[in-house]
Amino acid sequence: MGYNVAIDGPAGAGKSTIAKLVAKEKGYIYVDTGAMYRGLAIHFLKKGVRAEDKDAVTAACKDAEVTIAYENGVQQVYLNGENVTSMLRTEEVGNMASRTSAIPAVREKLLELQRSLARTQDVIMDGRDIGTNILPNADVKIYLTASVETRAKRRYDELREKGEMCDLESIAHDIRERDARDMTREIAPLKQAEDAVLLDSSDMTVQEVVDTICSYCK
Ligand code: DC
Repeated sequence: MGYNVAIDGPAGAGKSTIAKLVAKEKGYIYVDTGAMYRGLAIHFLKKGVRAEDKDAVTAACKDAEVTIAYENGVQQVYLNGENVTSMLRTEEVGNMASRTSAIPAVREKLLELQRSLARTQDVIMDGRDIGTNILPNADVKIYLTASVETRAKRRYDELREKGEMCDLESIAHDIRERDARDMTREIAPLKQAEDAVLLDSSDMTVQEVVDTICSYCK
């Protein structure tokens, strides 16, 4: 068994930024599980499957193969052999991933892939149900959160930096909706594991969060 660090938390809490830096400092492999859900979401979008149509999503899972590879230490997501990494981070794909991740067939599809990555190597894995469901025996569990306002402002700044038009209030609205979906779904909802350390990054710098997490790790 590898050394396993689990980071869960809501959208926009900074999980991937933080996990990448901890991985670098500690020499772990960073596993982004949201990217796997996003990879499957691209499959559903390509097939024109609606997220509300649970049977169609379940059927579409059968001809999707999501695999992971690392190029220069950066995680790449392949969907049926095609590298889809550059298409993962749009709002459309994120919303499709959030909606379809509530469907059991979607979660089952990715469960073994996630567990197998953690079995043989030292990983820091981020997602929604890593500490509660995927790696219940993880060596360190972190629940990373921040206020809706902070998360919305971070996302707003990120989009503005890319030169995209956006509206702070509608971003906050989307974040609230996604939180509600991720936290209230029946299967593997987002929640803090009993043995997870709670970190609220609203008033912390990135380096402070990284240092705090590193202090819990071997
Ligand atoms: O972390 P992210 O925004 O890339 O994740 C996209 C969606 O995937 C998120 O809204 C919920 C889902 N997800 C999940 O259900 N379980 C995970 N372990 C990771 C992501």
